[in-house]
Amino acid sequence: MNQRETLLEQNGTLIIGGVRADTLVEKYGTPLYVFDKEYTEKICEAYTSALSTYYGKGYVSYASKAFCCKEIYRIIDKFNMHADVVSIGEMYTAVNAGFSPKKLTLHGNNKTEIELNYALDNRIGKIVIDSIDEISTLQSICEAKGIVQKVLLRVNPGVEAHTHHYIQTAKIDSKFGFGLDNGDAEKAINAILKCKNLDLIGLHCHIGSQIFEIKSFILALYKMTDYYAYCKKALNLSFSSLNLGGGFGIYYSGDDLKLKPIDYANYVKEISNSLKDFAKAKQLELPELIIEPGRSIVGESGVTLYKVGNVKEITNVKNYIAIDGGMFENPRYALYQARYSVDIANKLNQPKTVKYSIAGKCCESGDLIAEDVILPKAEKGDILAVYSTGAYNFSMASNYNRNLIPPVVSVYNGKSNVIVKGQLLDDIISRDI
Ligand code: LLP
Repeated sequence: MNQRETLLEQNGTLIIGGVRADTLVEKYGTPLYVFDKEYTEKICEAYTSALSTYYGKGYVSYASKAFCCKEIYRIIDKFNMHADVVSIGEMYTAVNAGFSPKKLTLHGNNKTEIELNYALDNRIGKIVIDSIDEISTLQSICEAKGIVQKVLLRVNPGVEAHTHHYIQTAKIDSKFGFGLDNGDAEKAINAILKCKNLDLIGLHCHIGSQIFEIKSFILALYKMTDYYAYCKKALNLSFSSLNLGGGFGIYYSGDDLKLKPIDYANYVKEISNSLKDFAKAKQLELPELIIEPGRSIVGESGVTLYKVGNVKEITNVKNYIAIDGGMFENPRYALYQARYSVDIANKLNQPKTVKYSIAGKCCESGDLIAEDVILPKAEKGDILAVYSTGAYNFSMASNYNRNLIPPVVSVYNGKSNVIVKGQLLDDIISRDI
């Protein structure tokens, strides 16, 4: 656990946002997604104030895909943040939370016409173009509606970040973005410039996710500003925006860095200073700087609580703790072999002596949450806590095996309240004919 004021141990019990884990379990049942609102607010504060202090021009755009529900838009709105959305579902959630569509940016490598129409009808702030075919489609929809739309072009700076290959996106053979070096970006730029309803304000890149090395971001900035300089010289274009994407890492387990809000502020400081230096050296007007963190804003705020069910000891081989959740509410081990820190939330002061693997309840051997973690001896009825589950858990949940998606409960200053209701059995069959 990456201990903090709102995530700590008291007399052997885990306390999140001032609320005891056992109290939460008693009140809301398990599995339960717990969301530490105060910690997310601290991260939002760190990012936004660092951007205004060290750069002064631009904004933080929360990547909705990490955790999307109405409450998160109400939180980020308090910090004047923007948000990026990748589907009609995310846009619909934001709009219905009362979030201004002007502060939304639509991403996606294959946006449907329904999504583009919805975005334009709601006067969305920006659209990031990610394919040649999309240019003419978007132009004709904008023309029919009489709208001039601000757009960015997603490019691929070819920076390889050290992370799982599924979440690495700016390699040259990625399905996302246009290559800078192979001329594809320039072709797309020229095609956009011919469209009178598209206003190209800048370029966007996203090099991957769960990245700790600031060097990777600086290298991406270096390549982007080189390209901005090229566009200025060769195409007589000066862009007013530069979107560097998201990707800042969080602590899950092992060697991951235990970052604090101030560390994210420092990332922004380094990026801001580098961008100012590069712009000066390459004689560019300072563009507005946009960053799009998702995981780092909500990831460590999430803790999932489970009840320990059957404990299986396979003599001389392995010990399994079976929990009442699994890959339907956290598919990240199955997908990326993601490693999590876990604890027995009601036995935090007991010695850790037994090696366990944590098995979900789905009918699938790969349905694990963690392997080979050392815990106190587990018994049926104990509460198992898995940390850093705030990003890409609820948002990637499914009804596999017709399991119910758990509720999300926000904790703040000793109080708890439901921000997303848990599914009911009737929800599961509500669309069956
Ligand atoms: N901007 C763009 C264009 C992105 O594609 C992403 C993430 C972000 C921002 C936010 O990145 P973050 O700050 O959250 O790292 N499901 C995977 C993560 C996929 C990330 C996809 N794009 C996981 O569970 O690790």
